[in-house]
Amino acid sequence: ESADQSRDEKLQQICQLLSDEVEVFDWVGFYIVDPNAERELVLGPYVGEPTDHTRISFGKGICGQAAETNKTFVVQDVSQADNYLSCSIHVKSEIVVPVKKDGKFIAELDIDSHTKDAITGDHQLLLEEVCGKVARLF
Ligand code: SME
Repeated sequence: ESADQSRDEKLQQICQLLSDEVEVFDWVGFYIVDPNAERELVLGPYVGEPTDHTRISFGKGICGQAAETNKTFVVQDVSQADNYLSCSIHVKSEIVVPVKKDGKFIAELDIDSHTKDAITGDHQLLLEEVCGKVARLF
């Protein structure tokens, strides 16, 4: 079993746990910086409906902006976001949290909700803590 496989199994479990435990989390997944491409994210483990956005360039959409700025993005109403990539017409709000290794952006956790204004400050704190721990898997 490769190191990547073991990492991805753990990331998959984290997605499953968050999706099972938090009612308003309808899609939970990781995007990981592609080591073989310049400033591109590739879809990693996720729970939810399949998405067309399996590769996202830095700067594109909420995911790409979080990658570019290395900051958490919270969008409470995606219909008001101008730089947004739609995965499903059901999605109403979204949070993207960077995973940083020694301060450097290496991946991100992306969560979509079918409920508008679903993302709380407590969700953000929890997810930032999770991402802090996830960094150790890379
Ligand atoms: N909505 C994201 C794209 C990823 S899907 O939500 C899974 C964005 O705007 O970057």
